[in-house]
Amino acid sequence: MITGAIAVMTSGGDSPGMNAAARAVVRTAISEGVRVFGIYNGYKGMLADEIVELNSRSVSDLIQRGGTFLGTARCKEFKTEEGRRKGLDNLQKHGIEGLVIIGGDGSLTGGSLLSKEGGIPIVGLPGTIDNDVWGTDYTIGCDTAANTAVDAINKLRDTASAHRRIMIVEVMGHTSGWLAMTSGIASGAEYIIVPEVKYNIDEICEDIVDSYSKGRRYTIIVVAEGACSGVGLKNVVQDKTKIDTRVSILGHIQRGGSPTLEDRIKASMLGERAALGLISGVSDVIYGFDEGKIVTINLFDSVNNTKPLDPELVRLASVLV
Ligand code: F6P
Repeated sequence: MITGAIAVMTSGGDSPGMNAAARAVVRTAISEGVRVFGIYNGYKGMLADEIVELNSRSVSDLIQRGGTFLGTARCKEFKTEEGRRKGLDNLQKHGIEGLVIIGGDGSLTGGSLLSKEGGIPIVGLPGTIDNDVWGTDYTIGCDTAANTAVDAINKLRDTASAHRRIMIVEVMGHTSGWLAMTSGIASGAEYIIVPEVKYNIDEICEDIVDSYSKGRRYTIIVVAEGACSGVGLKNVVQDKTKIDTRVSILGHIQRGGSPTLEDRIKASMLGERAALGLISGVSDVIYGFDEGKIVTINLFDSVNNTKPLDPELVRLASVLV
């Protein structure tokens, strides 16, 4: 049971909804009579003692904002035991008795090491547009990112159709095909290439040539960055089909923007649960969602396993795409 102070931080790639989650952690802790600190700029800020006490007003006007007001970073020094010791000392200095970490796989792995080496209670929240954290079917920001990708693909289809072009759209996702698969299905892409499913580029190109000979005006190929590079694929496809081909790399635009309703609500629910869990003495867990309900996942199990791509999505794509 924590009665003194907890801290909240965001780490790794930002994702829309991180602000909503951090806001919920802060307001829940305060309503439970527990002080709450914000660690700015991820593990980098923990090591540099960028740790500031927050109040309810510190998190006003945030729920609708993308990015993360706490800032985030990728930190090499934290990967060393010495670095983590420095971080733990800083937490101790402020009387912080437990920590909520909002981030992806790498950030949560960092949290598991802090817990193992320093014995500090850790609760993780999955925050990444990649939706690749094991044990949860949802990560904070994935819905906004997928909607951003769908919106971009809709626009790219218009111009591809006008020119009778093939449009390759490279989406993020790190090593996971979730973002490509969901945005591809939802935007009616003709082909979706993800790292988890084998594909045959010769067959795809023959199929495209055949469809253009029957009057097709456009082809959208959504490719996950973890499967292959969009630029490389564009060269191969243009060469094999002899059809005018363009590539659009959606990049970091997928990370920004105002979070969707789903991301705001789920992030808020997770933030509240994380603060209540941590304060009541829970540690070494991640809170996520399974079929719409909050679930508790062992932190070590989560960071030591790789989340597979939902086979139901793969099956659906094989029927519809
Ligand atoms: O993990 C989120 C993510 O956006 C991945 O999809 C992408 O591969 C990576 O981060 C990009 O990282 P950075 O912003 O450091 O270039």
